[in-house]
Amino acid sequence: MPLVMCIAAARPNFMKIKPVMDALEARGADVALVHTGQHYDAGMNDVFFRDLGIRPPDHHLGTGSGSHAEQTGRVMAAFEPLVGREKPDAVVVVGDVNSTLACALVGAKAGVVVAHVEAGLRSRNWGMPEEINRVVADRVSDLLFAASPDAVDNLRTEGYHEDQIHLAGNVMIDTLLTNLDRALASDVLARHGLTPGEYGLVTLHRPSNVDDPATLDAILGALAQISASLPLIMPVHPRTAARLDGRSPAGLTLTPPAGYLDFIALQAGARMVLTDSGGIQEETTALGVPCLTLREETERPITITEGTNILVGLDPTRIVETAARVMTDPPAKRCPALWDGKAGDRIADALLAYLGSGTRLRPTQLRPGARV
Ligand code: UD1
Repeated sequence: MPLVMCIAAARPNFMKIKPVMDALEARGADVALVHTGQHYDAGMNDVFFRDLGIRPPDHHLGTGSGSHAEQTGRVMAAFEPLVGREKPDAVVVVGDVNSTLACALVGAKAGVVVAHVEAGLRSRNWGMPEEINRVVADRVSDLLFAASPDAVDNLRTEGYHEDQIHLAGNVMIDTLLTNLDRALASDVLARHGLTPGEYGLVTLHRPSNVDDPATLDAILGALAQISASLPLIMPVHPRTAARLDGRSPAGLTLTPPAGYLDFIALQAGARMVLTDSGGIQEETTALGVPCLTLREETERPITITEGTNILVGLDPTRIVETAARVMTDPPAKRCPALWDGKAGDRIADALLAYLGSGTRLRPTQLRPGARV
């Protein structure tokens, strides 16, 4: 059976790679879990391995934090000799973090089949590091596994070949559905004195929202106003903790980053979620919980057209007014097709069929006339 290297690096990767690993192993593939070390704190890493029952990585690259170039470069330099030594048949990367890009580049240059899970998402905001990671990772991948039809449309528009594109569904929702009962059994609400349906959950970590003090203060001002009618709890990402530098913003209960099960429980019990995360837009849609996305654009438009997400932007007045409206008139609960718990199975089937077919697309050219 083929050797498939599955890459995990940062907090949002762990719940995406687990269902793919499980489905590959259930079909007899030899799976090697590679952790790049992009996230390393217990609260950003270990708790996810524990909550999700992910086995310890077979290889840990220990690369850690740094500037974009340092982080991407360190992962590439550490991953390349591993690929040379282990000679995997395929490398599976998920999402859009720096390690996703680094490992996709190394795999492609080593001539290994590269599969990108969560392909085709586009924010069309080139100022967002993840957008660059997504576009380039897609471009060097052999197989593109999309979570939604809009992502497939993006890939078609950019000229990718039909053979490369697979509408597989959403692996993050596989993990959500697998773990929902365990998550709902968490006592996290009681621990924080929260009543289901009577609090809002906040997360903020995008550099564009937290790195500029004026932007961060404007968002915190809006949250303080909302907290007058809805208590707000915010698990704080290390990047945001560094920017707050010990400050306690008005109206917000701050907590350390939450583990996977506790965080799903916090989402499920919330009256609304206010976030700049990508994955949380998807999880709230699957849970049917209103989500206000504090960004000007989203790469996940299906959570708006077929979910509970509202793109609210960064204008404080608009944030406060939208939150007030959602309290009385929440968006309808809907969930996109193929967000059904079976995405990992579809990905494993397609990848193993491709590896077993003996053909190699190695698409070096996009469709003639394509726009990228
Ligand atoms: C990264 C991803 C982002 C993802 C986010 C989820 C990129 C470009 N960004 O952003 O897409 O949404 O992860 O969390 O890959 N730090 C710790 N402990 C850790 C990890 C990081 O304290 O375990 C601190 C470090 O000071 C580091 C900072 O957080 O400099 C930012 O970490 P980094 O991985 O560079 O980016 P994120 O903001 O986490």
